[in-house]
Amino acid sequence: MNILVTGGAGFIGRHLVKTLLGEGHTVRVLDSLSEQVHGSSARFPAALAGADVIHGDIRDTERLAAALAGVEVVVHLAAETGVGQSMYEVERYVDANDRGTASLLQTLIERQRPVRVVLASSRAVYGEGLYTCRRCGEVSPSSRDPEALNRAVWDPVCPICAGAIAPAATHEDAAARPGSVYAATKLAQEHLCAIVGGAYGFPTTILRYFNVYGPGQSLSNPYTGILSTFYTRARNGKPIEVYEDGRESRDFVFVADVVAATRRALHHPDDQPRCRVLNIGAGAPVSIGDLAGAMILLGGWDVPIDVTGAYRAGDVRHVFADTKRAAHLLGFVAATPLVDGLRQWLAWAARADSQDATDAALAHLTARGLYRTAKGG
Ligand SMILES: NC(=O)c1ccc[n+]([C@@H]2O[C@H](COP(=O)([O-])OP(=O)(O)OC[C@H]3O[C@@H](n4cnc5c(N)ncnc54)[C@H](O)[C@@H]3O)[C@@H](O)[C@H]2O)c1
Repeated sequence: MNILVTGGAGFIGRHLVKTLLGEGHTVRVLDSLSEQVHGSSARFPAALAGADVIHGDIRDTERLAAALAGVEVVVHLAAETGVGQSMYEVERYVDANDRGTASLLQTLIERQRPVRVVLASSRAVYGEGLYTCRRCGEVSPSSRDPEALNRAVWDPVCPICAGAIAPAATHEDAAARPGSVYAATKLAQEHLCAIVGGAYGFPTTILRYFNVYGPGQSLSNPYTGILSTFYTRARNGKPIEVYEDGRESRDFVFVADVVAATRRALHHPDDQPRCRVLNIGAGAPVSIGDLAGAMILLGGWDVPIDVTGAYRAGDVRHVFADTKRAAHLLGFVAATPLVDGLRQWLAWAARADSQDATDAALAHLTARGLYRTAKGG
């Protein structure tokens, strides 16, 4: 197949492109080599050797039209990806993610040739994941109340009876309640792709990636990737700081598994709905405190975990994937146990350059009241 990967020079893109090339596909990459992700050197990574690379922004419709020549499948990864940063760089995020997606769709319409679209969306669109309440059954709480967070009341309560609730696997039909600007832009991308794809008959697959980790993740971009943040601090002998009480959880899925799922999604059998939405996660929650502990153990560092009682606007408490649909429609099940993935990640990070820019990133959030410490903690 002739495949265009937008954002193909990024973390997930690089792994995907390498795999697709290895399978004999013809791959083109369109990437702006954003300085925040790639540093100021702005060179395409060596991992893309064999791909046809175009340096350009997806909002540049001339570049985009050139990049789309002869293409049968577009994997749309290009995006700004920092949840915290999106809360104060609203225009930048909406412009890159939503106008960027609009440019892609507009160009596809004008090209008048059939194409398949695979969109990298995010678990962020759910906001808080699903929970179960003993009395009320499956419930979907909204974003947490800032007053409660300020009192160090971290867990959301049942939106019906206000009782205690327990996290449950979140399936694709759960309500989307984005809690950050980034999440809202990802949901808008989904809507744009589904609507335009439906109207013009482009088979569309929306992959809601959960927390992706693995070798090649930027160690210098302080706005994304919790492992990178932990690693850069520990390597510099600083304590690993975890927010809230450290019991908040995420679903960590190894990048090779995400690539395996994405390559399966490139094929769209006729017996499946024209627009599919699929969770791509490992299907198990891991608390952030446990993740920090595992990294310290595997990394052999002598640093403490500092449970800060601090919190960021836009963060959710728990969300993990119900993976049944991806298993059924793609035959995809994540195969990499967290410990194996962390070992691979650490072996790679030990050879990579890193810069600890987390303090500067937190300063931006603090100055805007988006990063606070609970008073009742
Ligand atoms: N990494 C995760 O945990 C995760 C989780 C859920 C969803 N996603 C989604 O997966 C996709 C890829 O994420 P990633 O982790 O590889 O991010 P990344 O930041 O490593 O890569 C994104 C790439 O897109 C490029 N880019 C950004 N804006 C662009 C523009 N306007 N035009 C052209 N190129 C542009 C950047 O230069 C970069 O190479 C994103 O859409 C992201 O929202 C990632």
